[in-house]
Amino acid sequence: GLAHEIKNPLTPIQLTVQQMRDKYAGKDEDYQKLLDNCTEIVTEEVESLRGLVQEFADFARMPQLALTTQNLNNVITDTIKLYSERRIELDLESDLPDLRLDLEGMRRVLINLVENAIDAAGEKGNIVVQTLRHNGRVRLSIIDEGPGVDQVDRERIFEPYISDKQDGTGLGLAMVRSIIQEHGGSITVSDNPAGGARFDIKLPISEA
Ligand SMILES: Nc1ncnc2c1ncn2[C@@H]1O[C@H](COP(=O)(O)OP(=O)(O)OP(=O)(O)O)[C@@H](O)[C@H]1O
Ligand SMILES: [Mg+2]
Repeated sequence: GLAHEIKNPLTPIQLTVQQMRDKYAGKDEDYQKLLDNCTEIVTEEVESLRGLVQEFADFARMPQLALTTQNLNNVITDTIKLYSERRIELDLESDLPDLRLDLEGMRRVLINLVENAIDAAGEKGNIVVQTLRHNGRVRLSIIDEGPGVDQVDRERIFEPYISDKQDGTGLGLAMVRSIIQEHGGSITVSDNPAGGARFDIKLPISEA
């Protein structure tokens, strides 16, 4: 695909510049320094371009869910293990019906929402991950005590490239929403009454 077409020339670019540096046998110290600096810059920029292309490729990937029967609570406890050093409260419905889920996709959803919650709530702020059976669907909520999301931003934060973070791609929530929609579900954001944001995902219960 396009990502490969962009990535392919990157390695030759990097290697060629490194060769130019390594093959210089002259005595000009300033020129040697210039070569070192330029090589470093090209190497760094090539690296970041490679990462960027990967991010776009991941985001633009064709929807292809690998649906398997899963217990959402297990997916959550499993994924939250990544955050052993951060307290995250789990409030999980005990008799949740099994769902047809794409495991990798669902893990990405959880990781993106928890990362956002941690960014918003800071080191100490409370974060809750909750599941509930609700009107014939399963509701998954991620609730934080950060600054919350202004009414006017509640649609646009799901659009690609909307970010107020220094190193944010703004692709996290866009990816989350498209994965959830591929599952036949929906996602909304509202206020946490205790202050902060709550993201609610609703997933269909399918007989399978
Ligand atoms: N829990 C939250 N509380 C407050 N604002 C949020 C929360 N989650 C997301 N946002 C807002 O929505 C924006 C978009 O989030 P999104 O995950 O798409 O991108 P990002 O987090 O900025 O970048 P990245 O996911 O690449 O780190 C964030 O920059 C932030 O302004
Ligand atoms: Mg994010």
